[in-house]
Amino acid sequence: MKTKDSIKKEYNKKIKIIKKHNEQYYSKDKPLISDKEYDDIKKDILKLEKKYSFLSSKYSPSINIGFQPSKTFKKQKHKVPMLSLSNIFDKEDLINYEKKIRNYLNLNSNEKFEYSVEPKIDGISASLTYENGYLISGLSRGDGYEGELITENLKTIKDIPSIIKIKDFPKNIEIRGEVYINKSNFESLKEKFANPRNAASGSLRQKESSQTKKIPLKFIAYTFGLFENNNFKKQSEFLISLKKWGFKTSQHNNVISNINDLLKNHENFEKKRYELEYDVDGLVYKINSLQLQNRLGFVGNAPRWAAAHKFSAASSFTKILKIEIQVGRTGALTPVAKVEPVNIGGVVVSNATLHNEDEINKKDIRIGDIVKIERAGDVIPHVISVDLKKRTSKSIKYKFPENCPSCGSKAEKEFNKQTNKFDAVKRCSSDGYKCEKIAIEKIKHFVSKDALNIDGLGKKVVEKFWEKRFIRFPQDIFKLDFKEIENLDGWGPQSVANLKYSINKSRDVTLSKFIFALGIRHIGQENAKLIAKHLQNKQKFININKNFDFSSFINIDGIGEIQISSIKKFFSINDNLNVVGELSKYMNIEDEKVSNFGKFKNLSFMITGKLENTSRAEAKSLIEKNAGKILSSVNKKLDFLIVGQKPTVKKVNQAKELNIKIINQKELLKLLN
Ligand code: IVH
Repeated sequence: MKTKDSIKKEYNKKIKIIKKHNEQYYSKDKPLISDKEYDDIKKDILKLEKKYSFLSSKYSPSINIGFQPSKTFKKQKHKVPMLSLSNIFDKEDLINYEKKIRNYLNLNSNEKFEYSVEPKIDGISASLTYENGYLISGLSRGDGYEGELITENLKTIKDIPSIIKIKDFPKNIEIRGEVYINKSNFESLKEKFANPRNAASGSLRQKESSQTKKIPLKFIAYTFGLFENNNFKKQSEFLISLKKWGFKTSQHNNVISNINDLLKNHENFEKKRYELEYDVDGLVYKINSLQLQNRLGFVGNAPRWAAAHKFSAASSFTKILKIEIQVGRTGALTPVAKVEPVNIGGVVVSNATLHNEDEINKKDIRIGDIVKIERAGDVIPHVISVDLKKRTSKSIKYKFPENCPSCGSKAEKEFNKQTNKFDAVKRCSSDGYKCEKIAIEKIKHFVSKDALNIDGLGKKVVEKFWEKRFIRFPQDIFKLDFKEIENLDGWGPQSVANLKYSINKSRDVTLSKFIFALGIRHIGQENAKLIAKHLQNKQKFININKNFDFSSFINIDGIGEIQISSIKKFFSINDNLNVVGELSKYMNIEDEKVSNFGKFKNLSFMITGKLENTSRAEAKSLIEKNAGKILSSVNKKLDFLIVGQKPTVKKVNQAKELNIKIINQKELLKLLN
């Protein structure tokens, strides 16, 4: 017969397990078991409690909101992408930001413009589609291009109206804003979530909306996605209407029109930030005029017309226990300080980057030193300085390794032709996949959110699969033996089915995403797009070999010597050629679509000299919007040379020689009507 003690023991064991999985899911966002497996543990606990009334625990699913989270929401494409914001950290960044805007719009320093200034609430963004006043769907941000359909959960939030019967409410509009939880309401959820942001995210992703309803989530609206017949002139006017339509907006929204006032406002607000009811990690600045916003457009994943002015980082002092070297995807050796765990602004930190060898020497950082560590938002914490007064004779100077700690290849500093100096960063000189750590990092990059975005194949899983020898190259992802995975600790039929599904889905990629996913040094998302647009045909990329003639790449505006020599090097290595060849067998790479609707289809342009009332960058993006191509040198392929004031004479002469049409700015606009 079971004794009371043994029953308690059995019960507590199960509680411990469920507590761990709650943590994995909610705080770490890394579930280790499937929905079904989680459910089974939960059922066991509830059964025991029913049978033996003396059993109870505050972690029990009967008390706890640690109910089954769902990973299986339907996904849906955003009609207008939900992008991120570039950061401003200090006065200098702010001055540069405004300078860039002025340059782009060709405004001189006495022409004023306004900023809409809004607190940056640290929550989870959501997009609400209204048709004829009815909320018909709600999406999470997801990767910015595709979100999870969480309509029912969003509808449980009191601040989100389901029906709007106000005359001037637009017929077709997506309202966007932040879902968050008040600091005071977070107190009771502290056990289960690391911070209010995780609490909001976890609660929004419940399978049963009745569970979401139990959490006092809030919503503040601040922008729009798709918006038909938008007649607003200013962001600040839109914010006022949001309020009229029944949405909550921030009471701290403001309009400011010069840098000094922005800085003063930032300083005052930062002092107040801890008094606010919710977490705020900075202020968002948006160019107030929607017409200017339109002209400014986007660069990469962020709008040019907005930026986030972050609050200063939290910092603490702690001791360096040892220094380890991390090997990155591109071979960079980064020294990382392992420190005595310390709480910095609500997050426990035990690693901090030391950047590179020069930085360690410059700051004279030694093992055993007490150092100041700073942490801001989701940026990796870094060592700021040494508290020399606390240095003891036991502190040890660190000797930076001469060789890669992973593969033993020589660690080298590259010579930078542009700065005429050696880089500060030492790199592993191996051929990439030959070095274990580099190979793992390359695979992590390949499956990461911005690349193939394979759900269920996070960093830890990649490491596990590497250790089990399941993967050595990116293509191995498509040859996984799922039976074997199912037998691994922490995996079950459901999680394997999910993984299989997301891997299969990831086989379809655009050429630009494919190029980016390869992780070629100096080829980020933007450059990958430029190259894909240049080649268009996927076969052209796949066919690149050691003898490929890269000379046409110099015509790609935005691609320079550094990028070209990096691509050349990439394709000179057999492993890489093999990876590209193999991947092309397992994946459906789409040819890159170039806008086909524009007036400038199949035409190429180059600009020389200064244009009137517009910057060169804006003129370029105007041409590209109309399907035209920008070239960066005068050659036979060029159709038009656009000449502004003080053009480069050599370019004009070359164009004349080659019989290329030479036009001015007015003529360019005429071509477009
Ligand atoms: S505007 C492309 N306005 O910040 C424009 N975003 O880093 C971005 N956020 O995902 C949206 N407060 O979750 C905007 N007043 C505000 C915001 C805000 C917080 C968040 C939002 C977004 C992230 C971008």
